[in-house]
Amino acid sequence: MFITFEGPDGSGKTTQVHLLYRYLKEQGYPVYLAREPGGTRIGDQIRAVLHDVRNVEMRPEAEILLYSASRAQLVGQVIRPRLAAGDIVLCDRYAESTLAYQGYGRQLDLATLQIITRFATGGLRPDLIIYLDIPVEEGLRRRLAAHQQDGAEWNRMDQETVDFHRRVRAGYLQMAQTEPERWCVLDASQPVDVIQQRIREEVLARLEGA
Ligand code: TYD
Repeated sequence: MFITFEGPDGSGKTTQVHLLYRYLKEQGYPVYLAREPGGTRIGDQIRAVLHDVRNVEMRPEAEILLYSASRAQLVGQVIRPRLAAGDIVLCDRYAESTLAYQGYGRQLDLATLQIITRFATGGLRPDLIIYLDIPVEEGLRRRLAAHQQDGAEWNRMDQETVDFHRRVRAGYLQMAQTEPERWCVLDASQPVDVIQQRIREEVLARLEGA
């Protein structure tokens, strides 16, 4: 089973994916946690290029190809072998981030992005997408607070306009609406433990049904 976590910046999905990872491990499930961009030695090098705030001249076309290159490496080197070995694979962001950020956010052609994504992943799609939804202003406020208080990373996407992040969120909601059986949409303004409980219920129901 392949489960991905998606959401606008500051939605708390990284916290939630770690909590789920620990929980499944404690329950005795074989589980692997990956993240994007990065998750492999090569992918981490690509991540550094993508996130460097000095890279202001990066073309949107270069950006999507770099995210896709990182993903191709992760899928081939890690995710497919883990799934084949019977692990549950959790991934902090995946292809839907590209559609949301580069497609809806940067307004690149969605059909082209889908072709590139299919090529990069060999068509591997998540069984379940946990989407943590948060209003843009609240997400950005949390993100800035984490950066200022805890030294959390501030990357090229964080520099983007509020309108960009609004398009990203609207894109996610549209994708979720189109394929409701694959998406689990949760209100990320709820307390962490309430959200985690809902995620566990959803995942266990699918594991038991599988
Ligand atoms: P990251 O530091 O992993 O933050 P987060 O905790 O929000 O996941 O940064 C990833 C950033 O890269 C985030 O702003 C979303 C963006 N991104 C894309 O634009 N396209 C993609 O395909 C992926 C995977 C991420």
